Amino acid sequence: MSDNEPDLYERGVVSPEAGADDRALDGALRPRMLEDFVGQDRVREQLSLVLRGAQSRGRAPDHVLMSGGPGLGKTTLAMIIANELGAPLRITSGPAIERSGDLAAVLSTLQEGEVLFLDEIHRMARPAEEMLYVAMEDFRVDVVVGKGPGATAIPLDIAPFTLVGATTRAGLLPAPLRDRFGFTAHVDFYRPEDLETIVRRSAGLLGVDLAPDAAQEVARRSRGTPRIANRLLRRVRDYAEVRGDGTLDRATARAALSLYEVDELGLDRLDRAVLDALLRRFRGGPVGLSTLAVSVGEEPETVEVVAEPFLVRAGFMARTPRGRVATPRAWEHMGLTPPDGAAG
Ligand SMILES: Nc1ncnc2c1ncn2[C@@H]1O[C@H](COP(=O)(O)OP(=O)(O)O)[C@@H](O)[C@H]1O
Ligand SMILES: [Mg+2]
Repeated sequence: MSDNEPDLYERGVVSPEAGADDRALDGALRPRMLEDFVGQDRVREQLSLVLRGAQSRGRAPDHVLMSGGPGLGKTTLAMIIANELGAPLRITSGPAIERSGDLAAVLSTLQEGEVLFLDEIHRMARPAEEMLYVAMEDFRVDVVVGKGPGATAIPLDIAPFTLVGATTRAGLLPAPLRDRFGFTAHVDFYRPEDLETIVRRSAGLLGVDLAPDAAQEVARRSRGTPRIANRLLRRVRDYAEVRGDGTLDRATARAALSLYEVDELGLDRLDRAVLDALLRRFRGGPVGLSTLAVSVGEEPETVEVVAEPFLVRAGFMARTPRGRVATPRAWEHMGLTPPDGAAG
């Protein structure tokens, strides 16, 4: 997350957004090459083909768009693309590009073959978008000199580069921008067995002696999200060091995770607040997104990007044309009885 954004997502131990201690360890835990990237088999295979193809033609690969929720590996994949190509990597983000001049400054200083990672591309300033289209297509930037009627655009060639865009909200991208990416990778929630592999790999890198059933427990409660898996692992490690005798078995993992308010299925405070409001206040829905968000004191975007995808995936909530509705599973998980005539 960029620093100039409000701390909407800094909600605690299961927020899929990166906090300060995540960033500190990211360097150590991020897989560097495609073969170390766990899960997402289809994306991995597709990406591998795109990269190999470009390498065998001796050209910069097509621009790549990565879409998917926070913490699922978009930044990791961008870095992997540069590593696999042996190319330099430049990192910037949508919020950092407030004017087209900001983008021109980046584009005009790219080296040949460089990978430009534009995180949160949907937040880029509108006037910069036009400039990006031309750069992506023709490797050219039109620099405007002067003001008013006398202004002229001077075309400037830039080095062929590969743009890697990342977004949690692909639906917000204008179609002309989306169309200029040669390949779109959708990263989705991870399977429990993949998360378990990630947890064991991270434990190895952190020098944590983790019992297999403890790894399973952490994986199961990670909301399908590698970033959360790594964070829970660290919390469990802390707990074992401070409260226990350092051994990391399943009981220790369970005790640590309940201390951090992560429930059996990995739901966190926001997830549970959303479900609670949906069930108690709105009798299971249907209710509109913004009404629901207001009732839990969050921005609609936070509820939509952070809480909802997992609640829908886990079968607690459904999106319908009339609004969000709870499923019978939600009533059951929250220990509530649906009133007569409740939706679901
Ligand atoms: N497929 C994966 N295999 C192993 N670790 C992963 C994988 N995807 C993500 N991670 C870990 O999760 C963390 C968050 O991933 P990141 O790429 O920053 O997510 P995003 O950019 O989508 O928010 C990374 O630091 C990395 O250690
Ligand atoms: Mg990222």
